[in-house]
Amino acid sequence: MPRVSAAFFAAAALCLLLGMVWGMQMGASEDFTMMPAHAHLNLLGWVTLALYGTFYALTAGTLSPRLAWINFALSATGVAFMIPFLSLFLPARDTRYLPGMMIGEITTVLGLLVFGVSVGRELLRKRP
Ligand code: HEM
Repeated sequence: MPRVSAAFFAAAALCLLLGMVWGMQMGASEDFTMMPAHAHLNLLGWVTLALYGTFYALTAGTLSPRLAWINFALSATGVAFMIPFLSLFLPARDTRYLPGMMIGEITTVLGLLVFGVSVGRELLRKRP
């Protein structure tokens, strides 16, 4: 497995650990204010990062390491910004935290675009 895939899985597992503990805390306290942040941490952090890591593991022989690491940097940064700012925003819908959320959203989308380029390279590459 390429190191970039292992990095995706390491970040994904960390998100899942945090997301699960958060979910357990929500259930125990019966306070679901943070449910959207919990859901996004799990879906963007665990599921999406793990899917990116899987793609790069499956294309280990043909991937562009540069694109893959840019994908990782953008997508991990996206989660690292979006989730904390979303959790600050949620309790009072405090719009002061929207710019932080937007940085997370934009880097997350840029990460997806770079992933799209990687997928396009794999789709169009010459095959024997
Ligand atoms: C130990 C693991 C987990 C626990 C204890 C947990 C707990 C919870 C709780 C208590 C809620 C609120 C439910 C409600 O208000 O009815 C919730 C919602 C949610 N969780 Fe988790 N969760 C866990 C793992 C995950 C994972 C792995 C994912 C995704 C990959 C996930 C995605 C979601 C989503 C999307 C919602 C929102 C559901 C809705 O809108 O009705 N959760 N979770």
